[in-house]
Amino acid sequence: MTRRAPSPTLQPGDTVGILGGGQLGRMLSLAAASLGLRTHIYCPDEDCPASHVSARFTQAAYDDEKALKDFAAAVDVVTYEFENVPVDAVAVLEAAGATVRPGAMALEKAQDRLVEKQFVRSLGVATADFHGVDDLAALEQGLKEVGRPAILKTRRLGYDGKGQTRLTDPDIDLHASFEKAVAYAWAEVGAAPSILEAFVPFEREISIIGARAADGDIRLYDPIENVHASGILKTSTAPARVAPETRAEAEQATVAILKALDYAGVIGVEFFVLPGGAVVVNEMAPRVHNSGHLTADACAVSQFEQHIRAVAGWPLGDPARHSDAVMENLIGDEVGKWRDIVREANAALHLYGKGEARPGRKMGHVTRLTST
Ligand SMILES: Nc1ncnc2c1ncn2[C@@H]1O[C@H](COP(=O)(O)OP(=O)(O)O)[C@@H](O)[C@H]1O
Ligand SMILES: [Mg+2]
Repeated sequence: MTRRAPSPTLQPGDTVGILGGGQLGRMLSLAAASLGLRTHIYCPDEDCPASHVSARFTQAAYDDEKALKDFAAAVDVVTYEFENVPVDAVAVLEAAGATVRPGAMALEKAQDRLVEKQFVRSLGVATADFHGVDDLAALEQGLKEVGRPAILKTRRLGYDGKGQTRLTDPDIDLHASFEKAVAYAWAEVGAAPSILEAFVPFEREISIIGARAADGDIRLYDPIENVHASGILKTSTAPARVAPETRAEAEQATVAILKALDYAGVIGVEFFVLPGGAVVVNEMAPRVHNSGHLTADACAVSQFEQHIRAVAGWPLGDPARHSDAVMENLIGDEVGKWRDIVREANAALHLYGKGEARPGRKMGHVTRLTST
């Protein structure tokens, strides 16, 4: 493991480098600007949403060593808004003297769903039953072990429900045979290295947005309740309807993960809450998280500011919530609702500056404050 460079503490006027240029990078840049910090976005895509609101933008590939070295030299700390940044790119930045927060370990664990589940289990935290799948035979074996219904997910690069397929008894009837249904599912994930998970009959889904400072201080936002439609987050609500014991269990798991990763920054941990109130970790995102967007309007210090504080080596802010809130994602052409939303009381509209409203694309969100 590479040793971290001496921990930088940024001063107003300094520059935070951000790998990735989507809406998360955009909202991080806006929060950094509020603290008097500049941002420099590194992203392969031209005209990315974060580039519109940042002092500098490097459009380059994650394997462009020259561009990475120049980027390392131009910024005071590096973070990422995208968990699929290649670990090799982080290694190049670190070799060039950059401090990267949260660091390569968090990426390594979060980029691969199998490694992630093994890591979470190693902390004594529950996950769905799972089975690594590298070929059809392993998929058939896995189905015997985890049972049905089950979900097959690619180990890498899935998001918003992409790279996933369900295997239920009705599916198998539909395909006329077990073998055909299994072969179909395997083709659905592109015959890529995958993980088969038992379907968790959850009562609800929640997330914890947690933060750890460079000095190890930890702060957690209140649990947030999430509803997905077709694998994409639709709404997030705070407070989540969970018992104190459930909350405590989710918080303990989040703290254990933050410590084990020697983390600096904001993390989003997704949980399934079982009918009895026990929690199971679904996945973690080593970055600000869509379910945490409501913190921008319902808390004095948003997840975005919290992340910037953590990577800048600053003390964390108070995550207390001053309002109850419901965040709704504006997906695809739902973004057209902005015309009505701008007339609503207690509604905070956030648009990401993306061009085309393709189906399934996150175009913006609205946070409605439901009590103040
Ligand atoms: N093992 C599971 N049991 C039940 N539902 C699941 C399971 N895995 C995923 N889901 C559902 O699909 C959604 C998206 O899956 P997730 O693994 O979080 O992938 P993504 O990276 O696309 O967010 C989850 O939030 C949940 O609603
Ligand atoms: Mg998820």
